Amino acid sequence: MIARKAGPLAGECAAPGDKSISHRALIFGALADGVSTVSGLLEGDDVLRTAAAMRALGAEIEREGDGWRVRGGPWRSPDQRLYFGNSGTGARLVMGAVAGAGVAAAFDGDKSLRARPMGRVLEPLRMMGLAATARDSRLPVSIEAGERLKAVSCKLAKPSAQVKSAILLAALGADGVTKVHEPQLCRDHTERMLSAFGANLSFEPDGEAGRFISLEGGQRLRPADLDVPGDPSSAAFPVAAAVITPGADIVIKNVLVNPLRIGFYETLRDMGADIAFENQRESCGEPVADIRARHSLLHGVDVPAARAPSMIDEYPILSVVAAFANGETKMSGLEELRVKESDRVATTENGLAANGVDVQSGPDWLRVIGDGSPPAGGARVKVEHDHRIAMSFLVMGLAAGAAVEIDDGAMIATSFPGFGETMSALGADIAAA
Ligand code: S3P
Repeated sequence: MIARKAGPLAGECAAPGDKSISHRALIFGALADGVSTVSGLLEGDDVLRTAAAMRALGAEIEREGDGWRVRGGPWRSPDQRLYFGNSGTGARLVMGAVAGAGVAAAFDGDKSLRARPMGRVLEPLRMMGLAATARDSRLPVSIEAGERLKAVSCKLAKPSAQVKSAILLAALGADGVTKVHEPQLCRDHTERMLSAFGANLSFEPDGEAGRFISLEGGQRLRPADLDVPGDPSSAAFPVAAAVITPGADIVIKNVLVNPLRIGFYETLRDMGADIAFENQRESCGEPVADIRARHSLLHGVDVPAARAPSMIDEYPILSVVAAFANGETKMSGLEELRVKESDRVATTENGLAANGVDVQSGPDWLRVIGDGSPPAGGARVKVEHDHRIAMSFLVMGLAAGAAVEIDDGAMIATSFPGFGETMSALGADIAAA
């Protein structure tokens, strides 16, 4: 695909449903006794793999009208392995849920997912009594049906919502009260959704930054009706495009603005971006808003490591924005970026450097230096099958000196189906190369 400079971006669009909430809506619906409904679900490859896994585990899931209908109930061991494609969230959360349900299942994924660490989920689940085999703590993984799990108290080694969620899902089927200590808060959709599905959980603060979460096992979930808000991690692409494109003024409707997800927007504001959360409201226990973004003159900033959990997926697109800003933007605390769909520190650095940007990196940091004018552009970027890298560099091409091409846009559908169409409707020039 190729992105070229076009006129100012204008108008309104919607971001696809939040990926984190969409996975969870299907998993919680499949665990609940009865029929749940879900509107606004992200119908991207990652989430559709989770839907297929839920069906294999015994749930009935159908598209009905504009939404989805999920009939949950007791789970059974599937006949075939569960295949999660590119989706770390799907694989890791379902491991926790399968462990809690006490059924057997085999897990697998594509080449990129097979390279990503699964020990971070398997270790706490094994502490709870799970029997599982994995080669080198990676997929393929087999979970055995066994004794009921026992509750544990554990501390998250890193602020990972996937790990936290896997433990809480397993805890639903464990004997006793599981206590998870998160020294630094990370996205809390699992906790919010547990409450929406009628589970009781309690929280105790741990100083300024962290908390303890307690969940008693044996609780059954009641069905719920959910409306999935737009994904702030996907909305980040049109917002970034507007901020770097002269004359742009756009609104992205109905975006999730959960405080644990908006680090990217806070950072853009720190850089001088003209961004407003309009029409703020609540939907299904989550805060949402319409986000207005206009072209802005930007300056570089230091992005503190403490902000990483609230913008973990947004560093590639922030780095592109930083290339248009005046001065140095330093991002630290990025070690987790190296084990995402690609090594995002490396893929981001390589793509920026190829397009004439002054960029440096270390084990857990990236530094981008701009002079306030658009970078040269003109290169073909290897996206390493990573959807967020692909979208980041297409956005760059909309305002760089010369068009930017990516070698593969197929993975964009994992999180943002219709990305090209959505951007084109705002006036962007993105096409097949
Ligand atoms: C997610 C958590 C994050 C994020 C991913 C979605 C989730 O991963 O990168 O895209 O839905 O729980 P980690 O938990 O590994 O940080």
